Amino acid sequence: MRLFVAIALPAGAAGELDSAVAPLRLAWPELRWTGRDAWHLTLAFLGEVDEGLTGKLGGRLERAAARHARLSLSLGGAGAFPTAGRARVLWTGVQGDRRGLTRLAQSVAAGATRAGVPPAQEGRRYQPHLTLARCRAPADVRTLVATLADFAGTGWTAGEIYLIRSRLQQQPRYETLGAWPLLAPASSQPA
Ligand code: 2AM
Repeated sequence: MRLFVAIALPAGAAGELDSAVAPLRLAWPELRWTGRDAWHLTLAFLGEVDEGLTGKLGGRLERAAARHARLSLSLGGAGAFPTAGRARVLWTGVQGDRRGLTRLAQSVAAGATRAGVPPAQEGRRYQPHLTLARCRAPADVRTLVATLADFAGTGWTAGEIYLIRSRLQQQPRYETLGAWPLLAPASSQPA
């Protein structure tokens, strides 16, 4: 099973981004734009995982999530991998508690490794982003990045992490296999 761990986007944040991206989709039909339904913030991409390991993996993810407080996040700005001049991927960035998000991603990666499922890109620096489009060949998307530079979405509080299965098709299909809560503030925890 091809698996990854992610944070979900609330409908409001996805709607705002969709409105900002809609005219760009029309203007740049040569890019392969991701659909709103597929939007998420990846914490760790695990690649092909033996089905027998998912139970152990879930336990480790639960423990990792429980060690981190909920995160205040918003989407904003834009960039490209590897560079905007010769882009493969166009993305919008993540603002807010980026440090907390990075620490959470590190815990998720460590937990997955202990479950026998090391992330595919272990050791690479974590770069929070949401993929908006992929380029069939390296493309100059500098004007796109400039157009999206001022995009700033409304913030939300991320309260859960998700284990998601990806089935590769023309548009990948995602299926949520598990969800685990981040640590709630002490005042909102049940007595
Ligand atoms: P992306 O958003 O940068 O494309 C599901 O495919 C998620 O896992 C996507 O968010 C994708 O990141 C990420 N992903 C897919 N293949 C990957 C790979 N080989 N290395 C790292 N992340 C990958």
